[in-house]
Amino acid sequence: MTKNIIDINAICHTFADGYIGLKNISVSISKGEFIILAGKNGSGKTTFLRHLNGLLLPDSGVIFVKGLDVSKHLVQTRKTVGMVFQDADTQIVGDTVFDEVAFGLENLKVKRAEINKKVTLILEDLNLFHLKDRSPSTLSGGEKRKLAIAGILVMDPEVIVFDEPFSNLDYPGTIQVLSTIIDLNRSGHTIIIATHDVETVICEATRIIMMEDGQIKKDGTPDCIVKHLESFGVRQPCSSKFGMGLQPWLS
Ligand SMILES: Nc1ncnc2c1ncn2[C@@H]1O[C@H](COP(=O)(O)OP(=O)(O)OP(=O)(O)O)[C@@H](O)[C@H]1O
Ligand SMILES: [Mg+2]
Repeated sequence: MTKNIIDINAICHTFADGYIGLKNISVSISKGEFIILAGKNGSGKTTFLRHLNGLLLPDSGVIFVKGLDVSKHLVQTRKTVGMVFQDADTQIVGDTVFDEVAFGLENLKVKRAEINKKVTLILEDLNLFHLKDRSPSTLSGGEKRKLAIAGILVMDPEVIVFDEPFSNLDYPGTIQVLSTIIDLNRSGHTIIIATHDVETVICEATRIIMMEDGQIKKDGTPDCIVKHLESFGVRQPCSSKFGMGLQPWLS
């Protein structure tokens, strides 16, 4: 029995127009890790993340989530791996903010009192409760992003994948989302974040994976990878640039 929550073995993905999005990726992820996925625009981060919950399937190779082949166990995979998309609008389905967050639990036929309790807690955590009766379509970009995060967190998946979670967020919004992500990791969730904003999360990460041209080019601890960031087009945190070591973004 493997201790890895995700095992990826030699996956390749070619899009319908013939563009090769992923080239022979193999990687294993243990329970409780906090992984940053970094790389330039177009390096393949979103394509890779979409394979983790079966939104895209590989043409060759295999992905196991908790030992199950993703291509044959999509429902089970999506219970284990929750994904917050890069484009928050694509995820919104409810008429109100409250309904939006309740949607997944309603589908699972969870009791109303339980739904109300869980949704209220998540909305309060992300400072969205005052917006609970608003239509999601009227929210700002940052509010929509937090709403998309709330809709995934309420389902309590073991692995949570965030694709650019800090884009569109102001300073307090970034703090709320970052604190939520840190708490989730401390309570045992496995976190995988694709971000250009490495400085914000690097102190929390156990590992950084660098992508380029649909391939994994580096994979190691933040201390080992930090000096290579700029050669892959990713900004190095100021503190390490000036020889001060890695400093937490949240003080
Ligand atoms: N449906 C598609 N058909 C053809 N090519 C695609 C498709 N989706 C993505 N690509 C291409 O695959 C490459 C990787 O795209 P991807 O979205 O994974 O990059 P990314 O690393 O997430 O970039 P960003 O930092 O801009 O979010 C890009 O060159 C993109 O144009
Ligand atoms: Mg992307």
